[in-house]
Amino acid sequence: MTDHRLIFDAEAQNTGTRTVVTADHFLTPVDQFFTRSHGKTPVIDPRAWRLDVGGLCERPRSFTLGDLRTFPRHTVPATLVCAGLRRNEYLLLGPLPGELPWGPQAASTGEWSGVLLKDVLDVVGAADGARYVEFTGLDSVERHGHTFGFGGSIDLDKAFHGDVLLATELNGEPLPAVHGFPVRALVPGWIGARSVKWLGRIALLPEPSDNYFQREAYRVQYKVDPAKPRDVTAGVALSTIALNAAILDPVPEQEVCAGPLRVRGWALGSAARPVTAVEISPNDGHDWVPARVTNPGTGYTWTFWEATVDLMPGRRTIVVRTADGVAAPQPVELREGWNVKGYANNAWHRVAIIVQPAG
Ligand code: MTE
Repeated sequence: MTDHRLIFDAEAQNTGTRTVVTADHFLTPVDQFFTRSHGKTPVIDPRAWRLDVGGLCERPRSFTLGDLRTFPRHTVPATLVCAGLRRNEYLLLGPLPGELPWGPQAASTGEWSGVLLKDVLDVVGAADGARYVEFTGLDSVERHGHTFGFGGSIDLDKAFHGDVLLATELNGEPLPAVHGFPVRALVPGWIGARSVKWLGRIALLPEPSDNYFQREAYRVQYKVDPAKPRDVTAGVALSTIALNAAILDPVPEQEVCAGPLRVRGWALGSAARPVTAVEISPNDGHDWVPARVTNPGTGYTWTFWEATVDLMPGRRTIVVRTADGVAAPQPVELREGWNVKGYANNAWHRVAIIVQPAG
């Protein structure tokens, strides 16, 4: 089968592999876990590393790795989803200059271990007026002539929810450098951009972070401003991930034989809800059959499914859609969700294939 590894840069800091939908890949092997970094991976000496926690808190403090190890260790299985997931489909509607054309590769599932952000916040104490928790990385990113650490923020409620980690391990191993060694934020159920890698500072704030990646990027803006066509500052900041599903097998333009065909993929609920239904259409949405769940997910992880459809020769479009019982239905058409930077595409996933006569 074709190798569907995408590699966008020479340092392999922006890569993704098409998931194999089998039980042994429910947790993505670390060497196949997608990577998305806006700057180079910083080299961090773990002995010199410090996490400064400040802003609107009662007892600002700096933590060493040894200090973090004194907190109880927790493990959270979670699918990390980049907001650019499935952006390549939007290219059918027009170019998206400067944006990485991810397919379904920008989602992977890991078992993350570390300490609860909540436990650390309890030590420093949120002061009156604190409403957001900002994370800033130790990497150096350059935008519009300024160099700064990648950052973003989450609501105080989510921060205290008890599932947000300061993660030091992925799948039982220390975090690899590209995934944020020695410590990253891991915000399950939220877009990957809020899971800041190479964490160096946490600040409690009255307003969302004014880091470029919170205030000017990772925002959904549906209308182009002709005066500033790439600007999405007026859009809405992305937070929780959208209800979504993808067909991973077959792949687009694959040639298959007429007759029964096994279709496989993943489905993801929105905001910590497991999916309740997955349906497959063999004919571009005219008829639907229910898919079988092969590996159920928790609210924070994907669900693997498979279905068998019967195909006649010709060019056929297979479609998947899912539901979690609460989120609004997925957009039927790509254009319904199109936005200026092509984020959070969760339209029905369509895969066109060529069905050859049997025999
Ligand atoms: N954290 C830092 N410091 N720098 C980054 O460029 N990229 C973010 C997030 N955290 C990023 C970061 C984005 S956009 C995503 S999708 C995830 O990290 C990707 O995490 P991964 O590389 O471990 O898959």
